[in-house]
Amino acid sequence: MSDTCISATPGSGPISCPAGFITNVRESSGLLRLDLKLDQPMPFLPGQFAMLNLAGERPFVFSRPFSILATEGATMSFLYRVVGRGTAAMAGLKPGQRMTVLGPLGNPFPDLKAVGGRPVVLVAGGVGLPPLHNWLTRLGRPDDLAFFGGRDGGDIPWDLLAGRWQVSVDRAVDIPTGQQAYTGLVTELAAQFPALQDDRPRLVMSCGPVPLLKAVAAWALDRGWSCHVSLEEHMGCGYGACKGCVVPVQDAGADGWRNATCCQEGPVFAAEEICWDRYGAAPLPTVG
Ligand SMILES: Cc1cc2nc3c(=O)[nH]c(=O)nc-3n(C[C@H](O)[C@H](O)[C@H](O)COP(=O)(O)OP(=O)(O)OC[C@H]3O[C@@H](n4cnc5c(N)ncnc54)[C@H](O)[C@@H]3O)c2cc1C
Ligand code: FES
Repeated sequence: MSDTCISATPGSGPISCPAGFITNVRESSGLLRLDLKLDQPMPFLPGQFAMLNLAGERPFVFSRPFSILATEGATMSFLYRVVGRGTAAMAGLKPGQRMTVLGPLGNPFPDLKAVGGRPVVLVAGGVGLPPLHNWLTRLGRPDDLAFFGGRDGGDIPWDLLAGRWQVSVDRAVDIPTGQQAYTGLVTELAAQFPALQDDRPRLVMSCGPVPLLKAVAAWALDRGWSCHVSLEEHMGCGYGACKGCVVPVQDAGADGWRNATCCQEGPVFAAEEICWDRYGAAPLPTVG
C-alpha cells in the first residue's frame, strides 16, 4: 500500500490517499461521524463518494463506499451507521491508525446552474443524509426545503440538522425538548408540507433506502417536477472495473433497458432514467 497520495486515473480524477484517524463523534444513537486527516486535500462535489479501507497489513478485500459529508482543508468527514464488519472496524479505529481513501468518485447532484431558478426539495432517509446535507450547506438558498426521516428522536442528528431540516420519525420517542418531529414517513411529511402546495416548478433530490427513493420519485414525477436520486448500491471497486454495482436504466435498444454501473454512471441518476419496476426486485450482488 502506497504511503503517499496517488492518482487512480493518471492525469486527472480520483486519487488514492492515505489518511490518519482523527475522531469518531456520536451524532445520534445510531449515527457516527468519522473525521480523517488526508495527506492532501481532496476537493469534491455534493453527492460524490469515496471508497474507504483500512491501511496497513490487513485491509478488507473490498473497500466500502461512503458519501462525503464535508471537508475542511485536508480533513474529510463521513456519517455512517454500523451495519457490518467494515463499519464496525471504522467505529473501532484508534488514534494513530491509518486508512486509505479513494475519491472523489461518481457523479454529483445537480449544481445551481442545472437547478436554475427552481426551488430545491431535499428528502433524505437515515445514512442518505450526507450528500444532501453537503448540497444544502454549500448551495442551499432560502427557498430550498429539506426533509429528513429517522427511526426515532434518538436517531436524529439534531446538531447536524441545525434547525434547517424538517424531521420525521417512525416512532415518536426520545424527541428532545424544544425539537419537533412529524410521526410517519418522511415522504408524507414532504407531500403535506404547506409550502409545497403551490404550482411552482421544483427540483427534488433524494438519498436513502430504495422504498424511500421509489416513493420520492413517484411523488416528484407525478407533480411534474425533476427528480434526482442517489443510489447506495453494493460496490466492489468504485470506478467501473468489477461491474458489481449495476442498476437497471432505460435504454433505446431492443430490450428497453440495460445495466448501468452505479459507481461510474451514478450514484446520482435522474429518477426517470431508473427502471423502478426492475430495481430492488432482484437479489443484490454480494461483495466480501
Ligand atoms: C455511493 C454510496 C454511498 C454510501 N454512503 C453511505 C454513507 O454516507 N453512510 C453509510 O453509513 N453508508 C453509506 N453507504 C452504504 C455503505 O457503503 C455500507 O453500509 C457499507 O459498505 C457496509 O459495510 P460493512 O462492511 O459494515 O457491512 P457488510 O458486512 O458488507 O454488510 C452488512 C449489511 O449491510 C448491507 N449492506 C452493505 N452495503 C450496502 C449498501 N451499499 N446498501 C445497502 N445495504 C448494504 C449488507 O447487505 C448486509 O446486510 C453508501 C453506499 C454507496 C454505494
Ligand atoms: S463498484 Fe466496481 S464497477 Fe461499480
